[in-house]
Amino acid sequence: MEFNKKTVSILGSTGTIGCNTIDLIERNLDCFSVVALTANRSVDLLAEQVKKTNADLAVVADDSFYKDLRLALSGCRAEVASGREGLLDAASRSSDLVMAGIVGAAGLEPTLTAVKRGACIGLANKECLVCAGDLMLSEIEKTGATLLPVDSEHNAIFQVFDFENPDFIEKIILTASGGPFWGMPLKDMGSVTPEQAVMHPNWTMGNKISVDSATMMNKGLELIEAHYLFRLDEERIEVLVHPESIVHSLVSFVDGSILAQLGNPDMRTPIAFTLSWPKRMSWPHEKLRLADLGRLTFFDPDPDRFPSINLAREALKSGGSMPTILNAANEIAVDNFLQGNLEFLGISEIVFRTMERLEGCKLSNIDDVYAVDSEARRVAVDFVRVK
Ligand SMILES: NC(=O)c1ccc[n+]([C@@H]2O[C@H](COP(=O)([O-])OP(=O)(O)OC[C@H]3O[C@@H](n4cnc5c(N)ncnc54)[C@H](OP(=O)(O)O)[C@@H]3O)[C@@H](O)[C@H]2O)c1
Repeated sequence: MEFNKKTVSILGSTGTIGCNTIDLIERNLDCFSVVALTANRSVDLLAEQVKKTNADLAVVADDSFYKDLRLALSGCRAEVASGREGLLDAASRSSDLVMAGIVGAAGLEPTLTAVKRGACIGLANKECLVCAGDLMLSEIEKTGATLLPVDSEHNAIFQVFDFENPDFIEKIILTASGGPFWGMPLKDMGSVTPEQAVMHPNWTMGNKISVDSATMMNKGLELIEAHYLFRLDEERIEVLVHPESIVHSLVSFVDGSILAQLGNPDMRTPIAFTLSWPKRMSWPHEKLRLADLGRLTFFDPDPDRFPSINLAREALKSGGSMPTILNAANEIAVDNFLQGNLEFLGISEIVFRTMERLEGCKLSNIDDVYAVDSEARRVAVDFVRVK
């Protein structure tokens, strides 16, 4: 490999992003050394990862699993910690790269902690930019932290964006697979089950993002994420449905050129980019053979069946706390759908009603974000109860 050994911490190492990152690190143990790994409750998998990578620190966010983790790692050199303090310790320890792979707003504080120490961050946890984008950017300006997008769409744009000449860029185009229900008539969508919703046609992902892909809220969250990462207004971010998930996103320039990044739908490609940036690393990936695919298709989104993208556009236009409200309501709605308490089409309805009920406000600090997040969750839970 063409770069000096890097130290890496993975927040959320037991998730899909975390496991894919570990897979690449394991294949290149001479290039990476692991500082910290964290999970919420998946003690056995975390302990296995710590042993395989010889990590210095293992953290389980749920305190009640601390003893289990200690037991699972007895005889190992790794330090063991738990809870909020442990997570923040993992994020603040010196490392060349922090992979932010926790799901949901739970990732905000650890990611912000890494930003505050000026770290280079592989950002998978899009929700932290959605619910606190302005605060994250102002901390990045103070500390010089670097965000490397892991989301395949933003990673694609990052690879073709002209950061030195942003005025040459007319718009960016985020591609979306459309999820498992892209071809389904609206009348059938009310009765889809959580099992059907998490069966993404192209990607293997955690449950929450899989449901977000099925409602296309994932694209809404990504639209807000792209606004903060590339400093573009909402009108300059387009969404294009591309069911094959081969063109990961595109940048359209003022002279009519459109540049895109292509690859097989495997998150290890953008993760490998992030791990090795600013260089590149090879790994034994399946080669993309366009001739075998024959053709690639593209469609405009359908706002009647998938209203979530427009909800995200509205939240972004309102600004202030509205994206935080959207994110919190969505997390509650998705959780309730997965538990069987809410039907599929109810997810975007809960988000809409919560946004409609709550007044937006300015977010001056992280406490404001948490206050809005809690209030939005409370309102969304009430709406779920009466449905
Ligand atoms: N999966 C993908 O292909 C993909 C692609 C692009 C972006 N992303 C984004 O990457 C993030 C992670 O997605 P994922 O699919 O990898 O999720 P996932 O498979 O559900 O994994 C989530 C990780 O976060 C940990 N976690 C969950 N709740 C936590 C809490 N309250 N405190 C601390 N840690 C917690 C989990 O630990 P346990 O295992 O103990 O529960 C796990 O390690 C999401 O923001 C997602 O939108 C994912």
